[in-house]
Amino acid sequence: MSKANLFYAQSGGVTSVINASACGVIETARDHKDRIGKVFAGRNGIVGALKEELIDTGKESASAIAALRHSPAGAFGSCRYKLKSFSENRREYERLMDVFRAHDIRYFLYNGGGDSQDTANKVSQLSIDMGFPITCIGVPKTVDNDLPVTDNCPGFGSVAKYVAVSIREAGLDVASMCESSTKVFVMEVMGRHAGWIAGAAGLATEREGDAPHIILFPEIAFDRVRFLRKVKSCVRKYGYCAIVVSEGAQNVDGSFLADAGGADAFGHVQLGGVAPFVANMIKSELGYKYHWAVADYLQRAARHIASATDVAQAYAVGKAAVEFALAGKNAVMPTIVRGKGKKYTWRIGEAKLSDVANVEKKMPRNYISRDGFHITERAREYFAPLIMGEDYPPFRKGMPRYAQLKRMLVAKKLKKWRAT
Ligand code: F6P
Repeated sequence: MSKANLFYAQSGGVTSVINASACGVIETARDHKDRIGKVFAGRNGIVGALKEELIDTGKESASAIAALRHSPAGAFGSCRYKLKSFSENRREYERLMDVFRAHDIRYFLYNGGGDSQDTANKVSQLSIDMGFPITCIGVPKTVDNDLPVTDNCPGFGSVAKYVAVSIREAGLDVASMCESSTKVFVMEVMGRHAGWIAGAAGLATEREGDAPHIILFPEIAFDRVRFLRKVKSCVRKYGYCAIVVSEGAQNVDGSFLADAGGADAFGHVQLGGVAPFVANMIKSELGYKYHWAVADYLQRAARHIASATDVAQAYAVGKAAVEFALAGKNAVMPTIVRGKGKKYTWRIGEAKLSDVANVEKKMPRNYISRDGFHITERAREYFAPLIMGEDYPPFRKGMPRYAQLKRMLVAKKLKKWRAT
């Protein structure tokens, strides 16, 4: 059987374990040298394919590739870039096909969230229409945990662990100070339209009075009066109030409590700044001294406290994607399937890209407590196994050692790409 080359690209917001998926892809492809020729990685995602900037991962040593498993962020660069529809921008698809043809690429593995799975799906369909069929396999990733079909998304378990650990630690800090100083701590976490990350922070509450005392979810419309009443009662009861607020927290009319202005290529509003907004509201209404923190990129880059379960799953979906491609599957994505027993188990399943593309899975209402300010037992059962285990990176001189790649580009064969 003739060999073909594989193109792998990272897409959208990166995570602390997306490189573990890259590691799974590249190591598995190397195990199938009889079927897969070169593995190219897009420099800055799919933009790398359009610009014909293909990183030859074959130039990286086995140890550098192995180190990807414990390295955060996107080793090859990611992008927020939306391919328009075929009718709107046919040139872009033709260019992709030209690049794939010029470099004998027959496999396209796209590591991203809902928008990226949509792109992979489009490329798969159009490649057939354009007479150069490409096997397209999605590799799931998103800290937001909002992809449908899969039980959870690689990247989420580690963010969940980071935010739960952080609010526990910061909660203890505020508890020490609250008698004479700070009474309120507000931590803002990611999750554009879904409260999965905020909800996971609730794992830190194991006994009555543990932080966080209040969680604000995008799924529950913000009610200023009820919220302030709750803050006051927490301060009276526990001496302080630790709050986790999702960046996507919304007013009744669906507008965000605070948005940072601007939007990305997909039209997503850039969020950030709801923590100071909430903290200021508390100060002006209740007069409490506060501190606030926006976990922002720290939470999705925090490889030092990654969940071992998450790392294993991220690697497994990368590996499975290559195996799917070799098994002749197309326009599908490996998923995580949770076992039914009491003890947590998981295995790899499969979803059609068309079922995954552009669908956002929100926190079910029965995962959120009746008063809307915390999580239920059911949510705990869902979240708890996803943060299990530690998978520390190696440390030297007190600092984590992360992968250092050469990122050598292959020689271009085509004319320079000019975007329209
Ligand atoms: O990819 C998801 C996410 O991490 C969101 O939770 C967050 O709102 C967004 O990305 C930030 O995106 P960017 O890094 O492009 O500003």
